[in-house]
Amino acid sequence: MMKKVIAVLPGDGIGPEVTAQAIKVLNAVAETFGHEFIYENALIGAAAIDETGDPFPLETENVCKKAHAVLFGAIGDPKYDNNPAAKVRPEQGLLKMRANLGLFANVRPIKSYPPLYSKSPLKTSRIENVDFVVYRELTGGIYFGNPRGRSEDGNQAFDTCVYSREEISRISHMAFEAAGKRKGKVTLVDKANVLATSRLWREVVKEIAEEYKEVNLEFMFVDNAAMKIITQPSHFDVILTENLFGDILTDEASVIAGSLGLLPSASIGHKTKLFEPIHGSYPEVAGKNIANPLGAILSAALMLELALNAPVEARVIREAVNHSMAKGIVTQDIDPVSSYSTSEVGEFIADFIHKKQMDDSSSMTII
Ligand code: IPM
Ligand code: MN
Repeated sequence: MMKKVIAVLPGDGIGPEVTAQAIKVLNAVAETFGHEFIYENALIGAAAIDETGDPFPLETENVCKKAHAVLFGAIGDPKYDNNPAAKVRPEQGLLKMRANLGLFANVRPIKSYPPLYSKSPLKTSRIENVDFVVYRELTGGIYFGNPRGRSEDGNQAFDTCVYSREEISRISHMAFEAAGKRKGKVTLVDKANVLATSRLWREVVKEIAEEYKEVNLEFMFVDNAAMKIITQPSHFDVILTENLFGDILTDEASVIAGSLGLLPSASIGHKTKLFEPIHGSYPEVAGKNIANPLGAILSAALMLELALNAPVEARVIREAVNHSMAKGIVTQDIDPVSSYSTSEVGEFIADFIHKKQMDDSSSMTII
């Protein structure tokens, strides 16, 4: 039995509806295992700009810092995308949140699910048994480097990619530790044939590899990695990479799982841990109850495992998710022909967890 405070930041677009399903599932877990989760809601993104003028208000930051874990939905609103003159943009809230909470490591597990093999645009033979995890650096690189902006006459624009040894080293240790518990391979993805920052990454990561003798380190250029993720994804165990490359490669890798809507992620800092689906706010379908809640639900599972020290509870959620896929209880992004709504998928998974409790109470064990 545990009592934990979870900060909930539903955000924009489909964020609130998928987050609601993750909470439904967390409540089922709480009832089944006798835990108490206290949810503290807070504003972020366009929703926060509308109310406070700031896409990541200080109050939200404080709610996050005080919580045991943060569950986040999505950010982004077309009214800002189509307005290049907008001074504040929802995405600034996401970057500010990552920076202010020090969320330097973004962990994105990529798996293929047997019931969905036939739904992937990739051949089954390529995606069978894919199970790798991307460690994407999240608070450095070109996303944050200075100087950035426009020349005085407005005819040039520039961004700066900067990395320090310390920024590279702290996430690299996490990646090597993860590989030690998995298949024992780290692939550092970079562009060391062109970029000075990539050459520093190689130097630092090579030194760190010395401390992890049981882990094999390989280097791969990002253009080659982009190809290999599609042609031979089972090659990978742990991919370690910088911010922008990690952003691009994980969207690409979602094709292996079957839908971007399926993928969860964890963003880990020195103190705070935040969990979010990797998909965006998908405004086109917001409010229609058709978005895939599995990315949010699997993010809740990651939260139980990585922040709340509850691996058994995480496993029960994953088992329920597998079951929903096997039964075809999935949203239209996965199965356009026989599809279920966002809330029906959430309901099925929550019910499965409740039922599990009933099934198991006779034997007095859970899973
Ligand atoms: C992500 C998103 C963000 C990013 C955007 C919305 C700023 O694509 O979390 O992957 O680029 O990091
Ligand atoms: Mn992205």
